[in-house]
Amino acid sequence: MCGIVGIAGRSEVAPRLVDALKRLEYRGYDSAGVATISSGRLDRRRAEGKLVNLEERLDGEPLPGTVGIGHTRWATHGAPTESNAHPHFCNGVAVVHNGIIENFAPLRAELIAGGSVFHSQTDTEVVAHLLAGYRTDGLTPREAMGKAVPQLEGAYALAVLFEDEPDMILGARSGPPLAVGHGKGEMFLGSDAIALAPFTDEITYLEDGDWVVITRDGLEIYDEGGSRVERASQLSQGAAYVVDKGNHRHFMEKEIHEQPEVVSNTLSHYVDFAEGRVKLEAAQLDFANLDRLAMSACGTAYYAGLIGKYWFERFARLPVEIDVASEFRYREMPLPGRMAALFISQSGETADTLASLRYCRANNLSIGAVVNVRESTIARESDAVFPTLAGPEIGVASTKAFTCQLSVLAALAMIAGRARGTLSAEDETDMVQALVTAPRLFNEVIRAIEPQIVTLSRELARFKDVLYLGRGTSFPLALEGALKLKEISYIHAEGYAAGELKHGPIALIDENMPVIVIAPHDRHFDKTMSNMQEVAARGGQIILITDEKGAASASIDTMATITVPEAAEIIAPMIYSLPIQLIAYHTAVFMGTDVDQPRNLAKSVTVE
Ligand code: G6P
Repeated sequence: MCGIVGIAGRSEVAPRLVDALKRLEYRGYDSAGVATISSGRLDRRRAEGKLVNLEERLDGEPLPGTVGIGHTRWATHGAPTESNAHPHFCNGVAVVHNGIIENFAPLRAELIAGGSVFHSQTDTEVVAHLLAGYRTDGLTPREAMGKAVPQLEGAYALAVLFEDEPDMILGARSGPPLAVGHGKGEMFLGSDAIALAPFTDEITYLEDGDWVVITRDGLEIYDEGGSRVERASQLSQGAAYVVDKGNHRHFMEKEIHEQPEVVSNTLSHYVDFAEGRVKLEAAQLDFANLDRLAMSACGTAYYAGLIGKYWFERFARLPVEIDVASEFRYREMPLPGRMAALFISQSGETADTLASLRYCRANNLSIGAVVNVRESTIARESDAVFPTLAGPEIGVASTKAFTCQLSVLAALAMIAGRARGTLSAEDETDMVQALVTAPRLFNEVIRAIEPQIVTLSRELARFKDVLYLGRGTSFPLALEGALKLKEISYIHAEGYAAGELKHGPIALIDENMPVIVIAPHDRHFDKTMSNMQEVAARGGQIILITDEKGAASASIDTMATITVPEAAEIIAPMIYSLPIQLIAYHTAVFMGTDVDQPRNLAKSVTVE
């Protein structure tokens, strides 16, 4: 959470800092700020709320200077007010921070006892005070950094300016990522390579525990122990991506419509369509010799993992242990031999997922990662990287990354099935044939159902609660549907396994709570129909998402029936993702919410 940027430049930096922050706004948008040094003086502009407020502030009061830092905030400690907005200042030191300083309370108490006066409720401000204190004691910026950083516990990426050293920026990382960009006679710092893409594609990633000094002409990196180290630079793909909405109203709308293309790109990486086989060489994990697979992720990526569990168990007869990463990392679950771990993450930076990965690493498991950002920490710390080729996903609510994760997991389950001898060549070919049709079906479904969903969403926007039901792989989809709706429309929604209806949620059924039933005409259909009857018998309003066969055999009155083409079991979750994404999107549009940047959320969650 929070995005940070720094530029040691040769021309005015404030507009460029804001430009970079725009690319980081997905990390948080509670407030934003920039600081520069000009004529030996540190100055800043900060504003509550979105970046556009900071831009307006800068229009009225420009901030000169060719060296500066910037921040876009997702509030953890202290309300999203201007006084809590970064950069935080103390006696000629300016700090921006992404993460949480977990021991800020004792540090703050100690500093206050020593006479420091704090101006915010943030954990970050202690860093400015610590550094300023060491400077007053006569230490150089490097020495001050070398003394302050080891005192910080928790997760942080930092960028720091010193008023009396106007040509340098110091950065540090422990947990959240920090990238250094190499320009021509200029150097950059940023939370990710995409933030720096307009300036450079040559990137050096700091390792955990590193801190760095950048000037216009170069960089010096120090490791945890304070020794000078070299870290190789690499060419980032970030610059290749155009991050704009095109003709769409929102990034989310654009990303939903990009799915035929990005799913096709992703599948091609794992599937040899001409041969009708999955590409075994894409496996990189020894599936044949595993007794168990551990999986973990957060949010939407976790629901993709839940669907993957059904596939690995069914097609590869490989038992899967899956949990949300915030639980996984602390459960101290036994990890017996012949077990590998698979983590799923769009950003590749989610703190809990990364911690779970490190737990498995410490227990000597082979690690695989399904990630969208190839250069991310999770990708770099994994033995096997399974990329999703979704391109940058900017809307906070994940859509195309989810269907690309499903594409990878489907292919991996098939690869595992083949490696373990549990998937016959005929079944594999049939399933590949089904995967081939996915991009076309995506196109058809979007075109066919979107107008109907616009009408339905207008009605849904009147309700306060919505229940989603599904069985088999449609159960995690029900969870994902509910998550999508609540996170962007703020309508309360719950997802349930259809069979669990009678164990509780049925008590809530009345005409005020529509029930969205995800029910392809598969081997679970009849059972799900019985659950639908139970809803109908209690006056519940049903929105049925099914295929032609399902629609024909569902003898029940519905508020709406959304019909998608018949889809083979392996692609059904991808296809049925579209109606649930579109329902959430259009309902949110009717509600007038901020679709791409819903309140209180952030796209990349680098704190616990
Ligand atoms: C946040 C985002 C979700 C995402 C989750 C996991 O909650 O808003 O869209 O699914 O984090 O993120 P990851 O980058 O690890 O997939």
